[in-house]
Amino acid sequence: MVSVKYRQTVHITMTAPEQKVPLAVEWKDDHIVMLDQRMLPHDFVFENIHSVDKLAASITDMVVRGAPAIGIAAAYGMALAYVNGVDMDKAKEKLEASRPTAKDLFTAVDRIADVWTSGKDPVAAAIDYASEIEEACRTIGETGAELISKDMKILTHCNAGALATVYWGTALAPIRFAHYHGKKPYVFVDETRPRYQGARLTAWELRMEGIPNAIIVDNAAGHFMSRGEVDMVITGADRIAMNGDAANKIGTYEKAVVAHENGIPFYIAAPATTFDPTAESGDAIPIEERSQDEVLEWGGLRVGPEGAVARNPAFDVTPARYITGFITEKGVLKADEIKGVFGD
Ligand code: MRU
Repeated sequence: MVSVKYRQTVHITMTAPEQKVPLAVEWKDDHIVMLDQRMLPHDFVFENIHSVDKLAASITDMVVRGAPAIGIAAAYGMALAYVNGVDMDKAKEKLEASRPTAKDLFTAVDRIADVWTSGKDPVAAAIDYASEIEEACRTIGETGAELISKDMKILTHCNAGALATVYWGTALAPIRFAHYHGKKPYVFVDETRPRYQGARLTAWELRMEGIPNAIIVDNAAGHFMSRGEVDMVITGADRIAMNGDAANKIGTYEKAVVAHENGIPFYIAAPATTFDPTAESGDAIPIEERSQDEVLEWGGLRVGPEGAVARNPAFDVTPARYITGFITEKGVLKADEIKGVFGD
């Protein structure tokens, strides 16, 4: 059973009438309200955030996660710094250190810092930034839905839904719109170790909207692909280089290679804010390594033996040659079109 807990009273604002997932991050008057995604799908806990320090910790601890949602939170963080009279350069530095791979974080803080330098209102700019992501994700949904035929079975990894973007999602947006258009998509949801974003968040979002799905263990994707049960793979991305190499949740690379081996189209869905004009290839993308405890423990239970050591890269890079296309607000692009559209 789902219980609703509020640290302080807030209203739940739905992302859209048809979309039943609450806003992951919101600007309210003079502060940020954030849904604690670590508690989902069992508890709704909303945090009121009044300081840049607390926001940076919330991004690092994955209270909010998913590159575009992190970007929106960071834009609001710059607005918060402005409202609180905090040094904007220090705020920017602190936010940039909170999660290194998500390009959207850097896009957002740079945008608001530039607005502030030019003497305009950072709060209005942060709200505009969120609207821009909403519009981009809606377009990604409409555009990507055209690639989906009736009764298609689609595999996705991690959570690139509304929780990860605040609105619509990236990978889940085309699936949502295909569902709204009566195409009856079915989704294989990778559980996504070690934080279970697929099992906890993607399956929850899809269930809320009545989109049929099954959670599979990460290692089962190849099995279903080899048996012809998967028609298409769509994932999100945290950062995309100019040659089309794309960083996304650890395990994405393997899914892309197995999809390629089985002749299954593999798409990355992402807004302009995820493309990095300064990264020529995936070699330039910083990969976050997170705590060993995420691998060695789950839910307070020790999984590995005493003294065990773990490695925990949060992302991997899928080479462009395995990616069929990039679903963006500028259309479905091939790798060699990226620089022309999103380059400096
Ligand atoms: O570690 P997370 O949960 O922030 O990782 C999220 C992903 O890998 C998403 O696929 C990516 O950020 C795109 S979200 C639209």
